[in-house]
Amino acid sequence: MCRALPSLAFLLLSLWAAPSAFAQPKDANYDEAKVPVYKLPDPLICNDGQQVDTPQLWSQKRRPEILELFQREVYGRSPGRPTSMTFEVTSTDENALDGTAVRKEVSVQFAGKKDGPKMDLLIYLPKAAERPVPVFLGLNFYGNHTIHADPGITLSEQWMRSNEDYGIVNNRATEKSRGVASSRWPVETILAAGYAVATIYCGDIDPDFHDGFQNGVHPLSYRAGQEKPDPDQWGTIGAWAWGLSRAVDYFETDKDLDAKHVAVLGHSRLGKTALWAGASDPRFALVISNNSGCGGAALSRRRFGETVARINSSFPHWFCENFKRYGDNEDELPVDQHQLIALIAPRPVYVASASEDRWADPRGEFLSALHAEPVYRLLGAGGLGTAEMPPVNTPVGDTIGYHLREGGHAVTEYDWQQYLKFADKHFFGR
Ligand code: GCU
Repeated sequence: MCRALPSLAFLLLSLWAAPSAFAQPKDANYDEAKVPVYKLPDPLICNDGQQVDTPQLWSQKRRPEILELFQREVYGRSPGRPTSMTFEVTSTDENALDGTAVRKEVSVQFAGKKDGPKMDLLIYLPKAAERPVPVFLGLNFYGNHTIHADPGITLSEQWMRSNEDYGIVNNRATEKSRGVASSRWPVETILAAGYAVATIYCGDIDPDFHDGFQNGVHPLSYRAGQEKPDPDQWGTIGAWAWGLSRAVDYFETDKDLDAKHVAVLGHSRLGKTALWAGASDPRFALVISNNSGCGGAALSRRRFGETVARINSSFPHWFCENFKRYGDNEDELPVDQHQLIALIAPRPVYVASASEDRWADPRGEFLSALHAEPVYRLLGAGGLGTAEMPPVNTPVGDTIGYHLREGGHAVTEYDWQQYLKFADKHFFGR
């Protein structure tokens, strides 16, 4: 008994240190035969039963209805652009990355104050490219300095989850953290393809832990006396997506960047965020979800891998309070995630899964893309082009792209190759 104690303590400690392990219980369903029978809400039938048969009816009636449901029941309502927000270019290097790139850092001060809530944007653009340059924009998990070993990137001073392998000690980055996420951000390849890369540490906008919404940007929009968001107001994913929109606000002021050709992308929780950003802000011209899973591209009603109940208990701050009603009660959800993708129509969207990433339900991600297709067709855009889930490493689709990469939960070079091709096709017609 006594000898069992240290190992129990060790087990508890490791679960605490690894949130995704903690979030993946053994009793999750990974058996396709146990997926319950479910009926998806039809994206083309209005709340009053009216069938949507014209693009006008979609954009004037049905789309606003679906957007309202996602705001009220899933991600929460976000405020608009803060009136006193200011941008400050804090560094520029015209000869970054061995003279091939321009690197800029921009401080986005939400309340117009240097010491107030702010996010730091890191931007690389290919030096030789004609301006304005289209942009790939995504949040990162551990600070801008992790996407590349470039010593010129300012080391983040924000709170972040401690991680010995990444050189994050006592919740703060160290020099050892530089470039630790570079395999997910092939900066040189993206620049060589003619795109700029822009990124922000998600924790600048809202640190990824539940403190009752006291840190991050939430308090900025509280009414007098309000202490936390109302049940239909934004959670952390809503705040992160809002931050992505604030980056576009900046792009609109920078003549080097083409704010009309911004591809927003994200992995996992940040993939959920990219989809919500793309759905709620039509300025995003292209949207990419990499292994976004539950609350992202995967259909909630399938209850395969991570479920609504599980995500809300492991990460109580990600969604709005109202979403908690749907844990073990998915059939009552007035929307499902295929409608999130439909909100992006007719703009190009790419959903990527990974074969070993069962927690994120690859089939559920594929089916969301498939069931968004009727809206793309109504709007005259191409869809997935197949009703069958493709084999591994076989990208499919036209305006809705999809692939199932071989391997685990990650962003790889293979994924980026597909995203660059997809953007080339839709942005440049090549
Ligand atoms: C956990 C969580 C997922 C999330 C992932 C991530 O596994 O359960 O919903 O996508 O973390 O963001 O890495």
